[in-house]
Amino acid sequence: YGDGNQKIDYVFKVVLIGDSAVGKSQILSRFARNEFSLDSKATIGVEFQTRTLVIQHKSVKAQIWDTAGQERYRAVTSAYYRGAVGAMLVYDITRRQSFDHIPRWLEELRSHADKNIVIILVGNKTDLENQRAVPTDDAKEFAQKEGLFFLETSALDATNVESAFLTVLTEIF
Ligand code: GTP
Ligand code: MG
Repeated sequence: YGDGNQKIDYVFKVVLIGDSAVGKSQILSRFARNEFSLDSKATIGVEFQTRTLVIQHKSVKAQIWDTAGQERYRAVTSAYYRGAVGAMLVYDITRRQSFDHIPRWLEELRSHADKNIVIILVGNKTDLENQRAVPTDDAKEFAQKEGLFFLETSALDATNVESAFLTVLTEIF
């Protein structure tokens, strides 16, 4: 049973990964609490937040794990991925380098996580369209090639944040 004695049918662990400052923690904060902060601090170690939602008449507790993109602040990798059934691979559409690093994150994910893990590639910060450095089609093509779901989001204006999590959670189902 979850908060308020609500019956929980499933608990799904989803992990967030990607370079530092792409917006992982703010995506989580938007999803879990509908909050956003422009002066978000770099994550140190591991944090997680939960949100319970109803999917196909079942109550699903999404337990979203968030870690540091910065190598020196990262926690033990194997523990982070253990039991994860979904993953969000995040880059910043205004920073090409964060997209170029996605294959490395995917490699780490595939070597540590369950082989059936549901993965979505997320291009964050679409509110900064005038600073875009990663064309949507490049990411779409990469996602298709690797068999990943794909969406562009903005944690700032909330575009697609809910959809991105729902895509993963519904597919896990
Ligand atoms: P690490 O914890 O170091 O791995 O970084 P992170 O990926 O968790 O990034 P974080 O969520 O802390 O966001 C980094 C910066 O980007 C902060 O200043 C955020 O306010 C900003 N940011 C996050 N999402 C968005 C967004 O959708 N749009 C804009 N404009 N800024 C964003
Ligand atoms: Mg963070």
